[in-house]
Amino acid sequence: MGFEKELQAAREAALQAGEELKPLLGRVVDVRKKGEIDLVTEADFQAERTILDTIRRRFPADSVLTEETGEHTGLPDRLWIVDPLDGTINLAHALPFYAVCIGLQVDGRLVLGLVLNPVTDELFEAVDGEGAFLNGAAIRVSRVSTLADALVATGFPYSVHEASRSIVQRLHQVLVRAQGIRRLGSAALDLCYLAAGRFDAYWEEGLKPWDTAAASVIVREAGGRMTDYDGNLFSPFLQTVLASNGLVHEAMLEALKLRNQ
Ligand code: IPD
Ligand code: CA
Ligand code: CA
Repeated sequence: MGFEKELQAAREAALQAGEELKPLLGRVVDVRKKGEIDLVTEADFQAERTILDTIRRRFPADSVLTEETGEHTGLPDRLWIVDPLDGTINLAHALPFYAVCIGLQVDGRLVLGLVLNPVTDELFEAVDGEGAFLNGAAIRVSRVSTLADALVATGFPYSVHEASRSIVQRLHQVLVRAQGIRRLGSAALDLCYLAAGRFDAYWEEGLKPWDTAAASVIVREAGGRMTDYDGNLFSPFLQTVLASNGLVHEAMLEALKLRNQ
């Protein structure tokens, strides 16, 4: 087994951060705005501190990229990518759907991903080449092969007020092809649900590396496919993300093509 020590540390950090987040559901008082609809709360900072402390203590030489405090420079070939709270708006509105995300990139490859939903106690994990797991049980993407049978998830970027036309057009094009669409409010959990076969595809634009890094390892190890909207190989630094069970990927790429209306 590779990266056993790293996985152990990520588990420890995520579980502790999760315990700290639980009592804050719907109770956050210190809510600040990073943008018109982009929130940050004391919950985000608290969880981030907890995770950073653990990584720093266990792997003091490593680099870390976190959503709230940015880059903590260390070894260039080992980079932890952390979203301490994915689904801040949900947590602030007492919606029990959010996650703690910890990913590790080594020599430019994402090798470890861990996503925890502290409310449901669902722990999604994957290490490069070793499969994907939900609470210790192996998970696989679905076998749905047509969009008409596919349940598809999406999300909207914080810039949606300024640029909604293409987002609405794509939403419409998928809506008229798919069995159903869901917008649950945590990109990382959307991706893990895809990995577990609950969703068949997921698309979103304007995401940041910490939204997708950890979950992308879980999708890959569960047999899923990830690209951008043009079919280019996924990287957490790309502007658009399409993830699927592989079988509906081409149909989704087609559905996401902007057409003259
Ligand atoms: C957000 C969530 C949401 C997605 C946004 C993300 P945050 O992350 O993943 O589902 O639609 O694009 O920024 O801000 O709650 O960490
Ligand atoms: Ca996020
Ligand atoms: Ca976040």
